[in-house]
Amino acid sequence: MSHDPFPFAPDDTRRILDWIAGHVAAGPDPKNGARAAAALEPEMGGAITPDGLGAEAAFALFTDVIQPATRPFGHPTSLSFVAAAPTRAALSFDAALGAAGIFAGNWDGGAGAIHAENQALRWLSDLAGWPATAGGVFVAGGTLGNLSALHAARHWHRTCTQEAQAGRGAILCSSEAHSSIAAVARVMDADLITVPSDASGRMSADAAAAYLTPETFAIVANGGATNCGAVDDIAGLTQLAKARGVWVHVDGAYGGAAMADPALRPTFDGIEQADSLIIDPHKWVFAPYDSCALLYRDAANGAAAHGQRAVYLDTVDKSEWNPSDYALHLTRRARGLPLWYSLATHGTKAYALAIAHTRAIAEDLAERIAAAAWLELLLGPNLTVILFRPRNRTEDEMVRWAEEHRRSGALLCLPTRWRGEMVFRLCIVNPQTDPDHVMAVLDTLR
Ligand SMILES: Cc1ncc(COP(=O)(O)O)c(C=O)c1O
Repeated sequence: MSHDPFPFAPDDTRRILDWIAGHVAAGPDPKNGARAAAALEPEMGGAITPDGLGAEAAFALFTDVIQPATRPFGHPTSLSFVAAAPTRAALSFDAALGAAGIFAGNWDGGAGAIHAENQALRWLSDLAGWPATAGGVFVAGGTLGNLSALHAARHWHRTCTQEAQAGRGAILCSSEAHSSIAAVARVMDADLITVPSDASGRMSADAAAAYLTPETFAIVANGGATNCGAVDDIAGLTQLAKARGVWVHVDGAYGGAAMADPALRPTFDGIEQADSLIIDPHKWVFAPYDSCALLYRDAANGAAAHGQRAVYLDTVDKSEWNPSDYALHLTRRARGLPLWYSLATHGTKAYALAIAHTRAIAEDLAERIAAAAWLELLLGPNLTVILFRPRNRTEDEMVRWAEEHRRSGALLCLPTRWRGEMVFRLCIVNPQTDPDHVMAVLDTLR
């Protein structure tokens, strides 16, 4: 007689599915947010017991305590950091993907899912104008994508450049590069060369050329800098890199999505010649956490640097696409599938329109901020990032104002710094963001 150590009835599953259906339809509650551990513990302490709470009580902890104590990044009023705006199709499908329990580290475990993920990766490669040799994998986030791409870059550079073999090498990036690039350089024990950006936050090829050293194995071009939205001079940087035998990696974690909008595509000119690229679908490609599309223009360069070897992996089918060959990971979920499902459901035109619409919202807001006598527009929109400041508020007042509106759920608009000064930053990735609502909240800064 088999014994089930973990009884769980179909009704227990249904309870979860019902919540998913209701939650996806209603969307996130903008009043939710972080609470201190000291406040959570009295409500959640004792959850892990020798005998278990039972399915219903344990799930109630999730719906009543855990989920409300999380920031509702998917809400259209979430305009700080780089938020998320997952489609209902992608969110719902993510639950099915979890239930399917697919191992997508290699073809043998996840063939169908990997094939579908590769279709979504192909769509992104086509946006970059990359040939059939392009390919890659979905990893957990932009940080891991940047690490995996830059490791491949150094491996490639060491293979082609004999004299670089001995050195640690250097990564060149703009002063506006995301913090993950510095973290990656630390992990890789590589030097980091930081090039000052221009007034709009952009790195030009001329500026980069002045800093390029013989040790440099990769130039990281911003394809939408986090703090200011700038897209570097990708065409100039790829030309410079080709002339000097250097790899170009485009960090499009946030902004790469803009390539889907024909009006914004020219901003990325030159990317056709870049060597690697990341785009986070959980940022501006309307997918749930967590996913980063990591792409190599020539996927063989990714495979040469990555992949794990061991006797227990000898049976893996090497003739097919094994995602673990393209990044620093082995076991993985098919985290690109929610994007695939949503793309297959809605079609790529819907994506292009949603991204163009988001940009139109940013343009509208920038115009209105520029016209508001009590506000000063400092920058933007760079893609969909706007920096501005109120004319008559101190830094303390700005912090208090932001906190008040975060708590009420009216608007998540937090301060950042630009050229040393405290400013407000809006980053719009949600096509449902209502500019009238945002301006009504900004009106309270008069
Ligand atoms: C431009 C850029 N690169 C990399 C990252 C890191 O991505 P992740 O948070 O998915 O690790 C971010 C995150 O905001 C980003 O904006």
